[in-house]
Amino acid sequence: MEARAATDPKVAAESERLLRELTRREQEGSLSTEGRRRPDESGAPGAADQGKRGASERFDFDAGIYAQRKRLPAWSKREELLEAVRANQVVIVAGETGCGKTTQLPQFILDDAIARNEGGRCSLICTQPRRISATSVASRVAQERGEKLGAKGTTVGYKIRLESVASESTRILFVTTGVLLRRLAEDPLLAGVSHVIVDEVHERSLDSDFLLVLLRDVLPHRPTLRVVLMSATLNAAAFGAYFAGAAVATIPGFTHPVQEHYLEDILQVTGYVPDRGSDCMRNSKGNSGTNGDKRDGDKTAGASHRPHPAREAEFIAALSRRGYLPSVCDALRAIDQSVIDYDLVTRLVEHVCASMEPGAILVFMPGLAEISKLHESLGTNPTVRAATGNGKYLIGLHSTLSTAEQRTIFEHPPGDTRKIVIATNIAETSITIDDVVYVVDSGKCKENGYDPNTRMQLLLERWVSRASAKQRRGRAGRVRPGRCFRVYTRQMHDEVFDEHTMPEIKRVPLEGLCLQIQLQRMSGGIAGFLGKALEPPEEDSIKSAIKTLRQIGALDEKENLTSLGQHLASLPVDVRVGKMLLYGAVLGCLGPVLTIAAVLGGRSPFVAPLDKREDADAAKRMFAEDQSDHLTNLNAFNAWLDARALGKGAEMAFTRDNFLSFRTLEGIADLRAQFAQLLHEAGFLGTDGKRWGRRGAPPPDDPIWLDANRNSNNTRLVKAVLVAGLYPNLVKVGTPHKPSAPPKLHYLSDEGKEEMLQVHPSSVNYGAKRFGSRWLVYHERVQTTGVYVRDCSTVTPYQLLLFGGKIEVRHAEGTLSLDRWATFKAPARVGVLLKEIRARLDGVLRDKI
Ligand code: CDP
Ligand code: MG
Repeated sequence: MEARAATDPKVAAESERLLRELTRREQEGSLSTEGRRRPDESGAPGAADQGKRGASERFDFDAGIYAQRKRLPAWSKREELLEAVRANQVVIVAGETGCGKTTQLPQFILDDAIARNEGGRCSLICTQPRRISATSVASRVAQERGEKLGAKGTTVGYKIRLESVASESTRILFVTTGVLLRRLAEDPLLAGVSHVIVDEVHERSLDSDFLLVLLRDVLPHRPTLRVVLMSATLNAAAFGAYFAGAAVATIPGFTHPVQEHYLEDILQVTGYVPDRGSDCMRNSKGNSGTNGDKRDGDKTAGASHRPHPAREAEFIAALSRRGYLPSVCDALRAIDQSVIDYDLVTRLVEHVCASMEPGAILVFMPGLAEISKLHESLGTNPTVRAATGNGKYLIGLHSTLSTAEQRTIFEHPPGDTRKIVIATNIAETSITIDDVVYVVDSGKCKENGYDPNTRMQLLLERWVSRASAKQRRGRAGRVRPGRCFRVYTRQMHDEVFDEHTMPEIKRVPLEGLCLQIQLQRMSGGIAGFLGKALEPPEEDSIKSAIKTLRQIGALDEKENLTSLGQHLASLPVDVRVGKMLLYGAVLGCLGPVLTIAAVLGGRSPFVAPLDKREDADAAKRMFAEDQSDHLTNLNAFNAWLDARALGKGAEMAFTRDNFLSFRTLEGIADLRAQFAQLLHEAGFLGTDGKRWGRRGAPPPDDPIWLDANRNSNNTRLVKAVLVAGLYPNLVKVGTPHKPSAPPKLHYLSDEGKEEMLQVHPSSVNYGAKRFGSRWLVYHERVQTTGVYVRDCSTVTPYQLLLFGGKIEVRHAEGTLSLDRWATFKAPARVGVLLKEIRARLDGVLRDKI
């Protein structure tokens, strides 16, 4: 590996020479700020013949960029930062976003080492919270150093899942936190690494909190290792206390003032509601007469900004009389329903494009799907399209962008062309776009959370915290005073938003983390390890995670990882969904399993409008199969794919007639593709990265895909895999008192008691008089007037015994074990067969490790 290679004297000497050379060129470059200089000595002047240069050239030094670097606030602190890192094993660097922490600090350290002839010993790893920040920052730093990323003999590289651009000469390696965690599992002392920089520690992701525990343990064993924690808005005291004796260095920052406009103001700013003194506005704004400018920074506490219910009708009527679009009314009403009003955001952006000073616009959206949707909406708006150079500078910033597209984000467009970037919270702190003057903040983000009904981890759309909102606003003030449009009311911001984002470790189920800990083979066990975290999680959540992991067979009795557990540790999804996916891939029924898993990870594609509930239920039953809501959803999804192939009209008619949500179906398709990609990355779907692309559904005629679906028509097998995912969520069907009565249903409560439950009216099994089996599995259990399961499928004991957690199924009367069942109830041959299948399945998983 690159770090160990540094100890090879020949390699060390060669890279040292290269690095010295580079620094010299860099210093020379600083003498001239005009255009580019050709870095080699052969003479020909720069800019003019730039195009003629061979692609193999490694260096292409840009003096303009060097001048830009030197203007960053981090440069004024260069010596201080270096001194702090030299003198302390742990340094915390806090500084305003965009001040140059990520791009400069690693270079300061490397260049300083080179200057002292120690470049060869310098091997720096810098973690990034997301893949795209790792790649984009690596590409920027390489550019700043005049290097071609990935060329031989260069110093900058990156490593993310399945993708690595690094060599023996790499000295600054940008990685995702997950990559460093995996490296630590194999190489706990980080041999050969001189510096670890943990970036964006304030985000408090599960991975980065976890990394801090590991690093703190490594420090005493590696006295020469230096750890730097970097953050934008950091609670330095907390980290300082965690790493006793850590030094804190602050980089001063400067931002221009930014005017805030809340939803109620946007009506006015966009000119949709002309007269701010009118009655309807007074009702909607709550405090007429104040505008965004005056309000900046001064809170008008307690004012209500929502339309007074009694006046709402009048308000809407007044607005429509003035030709005002109804979407703002919808937006005001929708704010409590977490709905993003694309129409409003589009009109707002259009308004900025048409009537405001030049300057780039940054729009914050919660996720990829929302980015795409807004991108489409803005792209079809003539004003926006024209303003952005026919859409060239209308960019959705997400992980699937190509490197070239990533660069456009930082470009300054020519003339009065406007740049619009639509991003997730990645642009909050990780990626700084300098020329942003306008920020449009949807107020939403997606974060990992916990669904108490399904007891599963899932991605939730949420309101951001006030700290995030402030950070987003700040993005508009980099170059000159800016404006921030918040598509939510001030009341929402003041009263509903949380102060800070809660650390991930406190809000997600811990199964995934427990697997990670066991992968690191930490002493002291799971609970001992978690006790050492910055903010240790509740004991109960640890216990429940370990219990689940045992039940599904990811941990054995001694809390060691099983082969299944090893694979689950590398899949960033809920462990039960992960198990389903793995079994689906191994058993060759992947397509249906991907769909079912995606529905579990999202929600049911069926909608039931209040006034048409019966029609909706009837439509759902048309897709029903084998007393299974899960197969029903699968059938509906497949039928939708067929309808979609016929064209937009057919698709729309199909979803309308069958009470299906078009958007949810698209979300399922999206998630399906992501799951396929994860399996591919885990080595369960071929090994050739390129043929599957970065995203998107696998090509249907691909031989690997065909093999993964060799058993997809076997619904009994699909159900068996469903058991793998849903176990231990079991329902036992009781015997009815008289033949005409519906059977009583029981589930095993957390306390181990058998309790009654009912099937939810939306399930295809609602009101069933008889079930094809004595067992049902379910995903979601809700408690309202009674206990209900929302979805369920009948399953056979074979399926249960084979694919449940251990080879036992617990119920109130005792345990149904494969051994017992095989001995006493089933023909002996079947029992042997089941055990053999089970052993083979385990064997396949073991082989894949
Ligand atoms: O890490 P921090 O937020 O302190 O700042 P940074 O990411 O190091 O960015 C420093 C400067 O480099 C900013 O002005 C960015 O706009 C610029 N930059 C860029 O132009 N292109 C990139 N790919 C990354 C950063
Ligand atoms: Mg940064």
